[in-house]
Amino acid sequence: MYTVPKLEDYSPEALDRAVADLFSALDAESRDLHSESDWKTFRDRWLARKNGVLTQINDTWLKAAPGAAKREVGRRVNELKARAEAAIEQVLGKLIASAVGAKIDSDRLDITLPGIQRPIGVKHPVLRVMDEIVAVFKAMGYSVGEGPEVETDYYNFESLNFPPNHPARDTQDTLFIAGQESKAARDRLLLRTHTSPVQIRTMEQQPPPVRIVIPGKVHRNDPLDATHSPVFHQVEGLAVDTNITFCDLKGTLDHAMKALFGSSVKTRFYPSFFPFTEPSADMQVSCIFCGGKGCRKCKFSGWIELLGCGMVDPNVFDFVKHNGYDSSKISGFAFGMGVERIAILKYEVEEIQLFYEGDVRFLEQFA
Ligand code: PHE
Repeated sequence: MYTVPKLEDYSPEALDRAVADLFSALDAESRDLHSESDWKTFRDRWLARKNGVLTQINDTWLKAAPGAAKREVGRRVNELKARAEAAIEQVLGKLIASAVGAKIDSDRLDITLPGIQRPIGVKHPVLRVMDEIVAVFKAMGYSVGEGPEVETDYYNFESLNFPPNHPARDTQDTLFIAGQESKAARDRLLLRTHTSPVQIRTMEQQPPPVRIVIPGKVHRNDPLDATHSPVFHQVEGLAVDTNITFCDLKGTLDHAMKALFGSSVKTRFYPSFFPFTEPSADMQVSCIFCGGKGCRKCKFSGWIELLGCGMVDPNVFDFVKHNGYDSSKISGFAFGMGVERIAILKYEVEEIQLFYEGDVRFLEQFA
């Protein structure tokens, strides 16, 4: 370890040599430091006011210098002190940098490891089928509309020719919003039981002609079973123009079913009843499992009932007469289909609940 030598010779060359020795000693000592506390000991050894190396230099070199050399020795000692202090500071900087470097080294990412996978979701099968149905009608020139899920009695029932207390209301067992008693019956709110209210809403907004499909969520007070859910989805359709006939309805739906299920599927129309269509029909498709031969799925009938439809009842047009819907001049057809029902057939899904449980083992099959 460096000790401050006594100087015999105060010539500039001798001073140069002494200074060079001192710095090479400082350099050698600084290379032996491994921690901040090593550095503190080192710093104190060199800079401590009491007996630090630089203080010793003051005593050993400067004070002992002959009068003639004092000035020059003083200048050199001051210069040397500043250089030594700076060098000692630098040593600490390097020490910290290499410590940080070592830490980064030990934490270094292994870029060959597989990354964290964040699977991108897929469109839910119900939405997918709904979009598919809508696309079939868009290709035929239909526009797309929407309406509110919380609906008034007027739009959900009354304007669709379900008079108050009419038994046809019971076929759509309904979820009512509480606390509506103070309102007039027609203004009371409920969760819409079908997308048909958007028929009236559309006709209030635009005069004929109309060609529109309305996808949306509907609610009924139905207990959950393999094929029923209190919340499900429908796609409604409405076409109004001059000379629209039942043939147009049949042709349109037949085309749509062939687009959805394949060109070999057949359709047939069975008499039915809805208050807002006259005549009304249930449309059936030839069983897509057995091709119409009869199987368990179609209860050996060869046919599967798929949707409700009919010609718009003139009583419905009367509610929007003011907007150009004069039933002596125009006519129209409407239909409403359950999206889950179609999805169940298309994908052979066993239980409707599977659509709502959010189980990725089920959903990823539609990826
Ligand atoms: N809204 C009817 C239902 O939910 C279906 C339907 C729509 C029937 C349009 C005829 C015309 O059952």
